Amino acid sequence: MTPNSGAPDLSVNVAGIPLKNPVMAASGTFGYGVEFDDVVDLGKLGGFVVKGLSKEPMIGNPPPRLWETAAGMLNAIGLQNIGAQAFLDEKMPRLRQIKDVVVVTNVFGYAREDYERTIEILNQGEGIAAYELNVSCPNTQHGGLQFGSDPRSLDEVVTTAKRVAQRPLIVKLSPNVTSIAQMAYVAQESGADALSLVNTFVAMAIDPETRKPRIANVTAGLSGPAIKPIAVRMVYDAAHAVKIPVIGMGGISTPEDVIEFMLAGATAVQIGTASYWDPCATEKIVDGLQEWCQERRVPRISDLIGGMQLE
Ligand SMILES: Cc1cc2nc3c(=O)[nH]c(=O)nc-3n(C[C@H](O)[C@H](O)[C@H](O)COP(=O)(O)O)c2cc1C
Repeated sequence: MTPNSGAPDLSVNVAGIPLKNPVMAASGTFGYGVEFDDVVDLGKLGGFVVKGLSKEPMIGNPPPRLWETAAGMLNAIGLQNIGAQAFLDEKMPRLRQIKDVVVVTNVFGYAREDYERTIEILNQGEGIAAYELNVSCPNTQHGGLQFGSDPRSLDEVVTTAKRVAQRPLIVKLSPNVTSIAQMAYVAQESGADALSLVNTFVAMAIDPETRKPRIANVTAGLSGPAIKPIAVRMVYDAAHAVKIPVIGMGGISTPEDVIEFMLAGATAVQIGTASYWDPCATEKIVDGLQEWCQERRVPRISDLIGGMQLE
């Protein structure tokens, strides 16, 4: 508890970035933050990650792009976004007015130069705390293999991004790999200041009546509570392979889920799909964490990081 108030201390620190609580909104599920301004008290969150940005605007994939599954959701939005420069000009001025919330920009590309250029544009903007590198895109110069599924490609893209980035670099790992520990280690050695995981799992669904895929892109990313136990295991494996902080996500929808990820080794968490079901999910989880810690007399939430007990 903080000395005078008796309230639990929810603050954490990720790669030198202080967060007043460990709850962040995940990229792609919270727009550019400003869209949630009327619904969520943004200043209550630890922070949020804006939609993935590229050097040029992108229109994304054709519909249908979303499909609800048992305890989860398939999406193939295709990284639709307004482009890094338009983000700085049109969204950042409003975001800068929100007090005491950390804004992270998610960055993606199809070649190393795309990441480089996007980060160079974002370096010019004020008020961004860190970059989150989405490496789950097909690397078009390497025959479409994802950056995040090949250690050498991952090393190349992280090294490039780190060289240009004037802010801390969070590398968001793909879960579609055999050894998440190996990819976590590669990202750390290539210069990542922190890791975030998991991104969505490649998945698909077919309509038995029409025999057509439920998603126009055929394959899509699975997110939501259905993936949570796998995500917890991956966060645990990654956190044990590196010294840098890990931000955990995948199916979080309750304060207890946050605690679970922290016990597995996460320093902070992100909430994605839950905001689709309840746009106020992030804010409610912050309140719930406060109560959870208070009731169990946990003075500092950071004490729980990596605290899973085997006996
Ligand atoms: C509709 C949708 C769009 C997403 N867009 C992005 C994105 O632009 N960049 C990114 O790194 N992750 C993106 N993600 C992945 C989420 O940030 C998160 O990693 C994933 O959904 C797992 O968390 P969750 O189960 O809480 O949703 C997206 C997820 C969804 C559901």
